[in-house]
Amino acid sequence: MLNNKIEKILNEQVEKEGYSSSLYLAMASWAEVNGYAGIAAWLYKQSDEERQHMLKLIGYINERGGHAIVPAFKEPPAIQKSVLNMFEEVLRHEQYISQSINEIVALCLEEKDFTTHNWIQWFVTEQIEEEAQSQKILDKLSMLNESSLYVFDRDIMSLRNNG
Ligand code: FEO
Repeated sequence: MLNNKIEKILNEQVEKEGYSSSLYLAMASWAEVNGYAGIAAWLYKQSDEERQHMLKLIGYINERGGHAIVPAFKEPPAIQKSVLNMFEEVLRHEQYISQSINEIVALCLEEKDFTTHNWIQWFVTEQIEEEAQSQKILDKLSMLNESSLYVFDRDIMSLRNNG
């Protein structure tokens, strides 16, 4: 059974993962209309993954006797300044999410909820991967000029597939 504090922080994470899904969906749409089909595909997939993270949280909260609440999500920005700028934002956002997961870990210890502490470790590991991916993309992007961006657009899917 979840205590109120743990239920509350997990529900806050539902909102954050749902917003992440919307944020990446909006970025995907922007990339698509600007001719970056590969980047758009990467972001659509990322958006799906964030929705899965949200569903994972909802499933756990309900399974443990809580009530997962689906909130309103704020509207993500529709326009990006540049591809580079957008991926800087992706990395910043993932760092923010990692911090948020760490706060859940800390609260679990404080509240002696070792079941949730154990369960949330999946997210801890996932965040290492998500930050590493975003950093890898940024490293590649920082070496490119405008014309080679289209070559990068074709390569980004294999970047994901190769980890
Ligand atoms: Fe679900 Fe990218 O954090």
